[in-house]
Amino acid sequence: MKDLTPNQSSLDPIEIASLDEIRALQLKRMKWSLKHAYDNVPMYRERFEAAGVHPDDLKDLADLSKFPFTYKNDLRDNYPFGLFAVPREQVVRLHASSGTTGKPTVVGYTENDIDMWANMVARSMRAGGTRPGDVAHIAYGYGLFTGGLGAHYGAERLGCTVVPVSGGMTERQVTLIEDFKPKTIMVTPSYMLNIMEQYRKAGIDPRESSLEVGIFGAEPWTNAMRAEVEEAFDMHAVDIYGLSEVLGPGVASECVETKDGLHIWEDHFYPEIIDPETGEVLPDGEMGELVFTTITKEGLPMIRYRTRDLTRLLPGSARSMRRMEKITGRSDDMIILRGVNVFPTQVEEQVLSIPELAPHFQITLFREGRMDAMAINVEAATGAEGDATREMAGKLLSKKIKDVVGISTKVTVGETGTVERSQGKARRVVDNRPKE
Ligand code: DLL
Repeated sequence: MKDLTPNQSSLDPIEIASLDEIRALQLKRMKWSLKHAYDNVPMYRERFEAAGVHPDDLKDLADLSKFPFTYKNDLRDNYPFGLFAVPREQVVRLHASSGTTGKPTVVGYTENDIDMWANMVARSMRAGGTRPGDVAHIAYGYGLFTGGLGAHYGAERLGCTVVPVSGGMTERQVTLIEDFKPKTIMVTPSYMLNIMEQYRKAGIDPRESSLEVGIFGAEPWTNAMRAEVEEAFDMHAVDIYGLSEVLGPGVASECVETKDGLHIWEDHFYPEIIDPETGEVLPDGEMGELVFTTITKEGLPMIRYRTRDLTRLLPGSARSMRRMEKITGRSDDMIILRGVNVFPTQVEEQVLSIPELAPHFQITLFREGRMDAMAINVEAATGAEGDATREMAGKLLSKKIKDVVGISTKVTVGETGTVERSQGKARRVVDNRPKE
């Protein structure tokens, strides 16, 4: 793999500024953002008043902890535009997430917000090893999902030749990569596996492809998956994080030279880690729920937004800004089985540690008597499809999950194509337990 470390002179100066400078900028911007939210969004005004706080009470960054949290339900309760802080006419773009139940959550961007967003994705791509002039293949879904258009504007901003493929039609993805020879691909990690499989079906060695960088996000993925994709394509695989409520892709991103977690672009997003039970702010280094406050966003300011994503904050490395560790999972995706907490990423790690297994898997939860139980459907790797090999690999996976995670599972190792393939975010867990 090529060394793609960006030239220091190509970075935004704030990426490598001193912490003092970054904190001073954050304080100034946070004061503005709290006031903007309070002055223009009735919900924030009411919430602040009920909590007995006023934007003027923020004297330093730690004072943020006095302000109330914002939740996904607040967006639903104020559907569609009730949390916008500018007149609707100034909102130049809407996105929405379908959510699992009820109304979607709607987010809005002013022209300045779109501009900042493009800058943050361009910065993330540069950190990942993409350069102006590169061809960038975008296979995140276009539409109300923020992945496609978010990546698109950022890639254009960086100066790439953008191929807006969107998700799906996997054969065509391979043809276009072969014909247009992109250096960068932006796609969910689970859909990348699908593309990898299509390469093999077409009899093309993915290592011979033009791809040098994959910028993968929108769902949790492990370092074991990174190793798998990097080896298969002879390319760098870096992580990009974001969420619609806060921006979309480009809230945080990994640097290609370190691949040691995602630098949060703290000049626009202020992170906190809290204890999800008590709401108490935890010191850097401790695991908890990630909370974001936007400090420059005009259309939809978010004050202490509870992401439900679990991670911890680490000091800066390749950039001055703090890192978040690769996300373990969302608190909503955590499976509690007979008192043990399990995340799909833990299963992914174990699946990938067994060479006879392909990286496609799905977890099913069901009720066995009065107890919850978990089954894993996974596929045999190419060349390991024999009955005896599959049985052995299944037993080994079951044992590893018992040893490392601490739960008993029923593992079925099927042939290629027996596990549902993802076109975007993978559905890792199917819950067949009766609804109480
Ligand atoms: O998934 C935005 C995005 C698009 C990010 C493309 C990166 C690339 P939402 O659909 O609102 O937005 O979903 C946000 O997805 O709270 C996390 O739970 C999860 N997520 C996003 N990026 C990552 C990541 C987009 N790199 C939710 N690792 C977030 C783990 C991620 N989880």
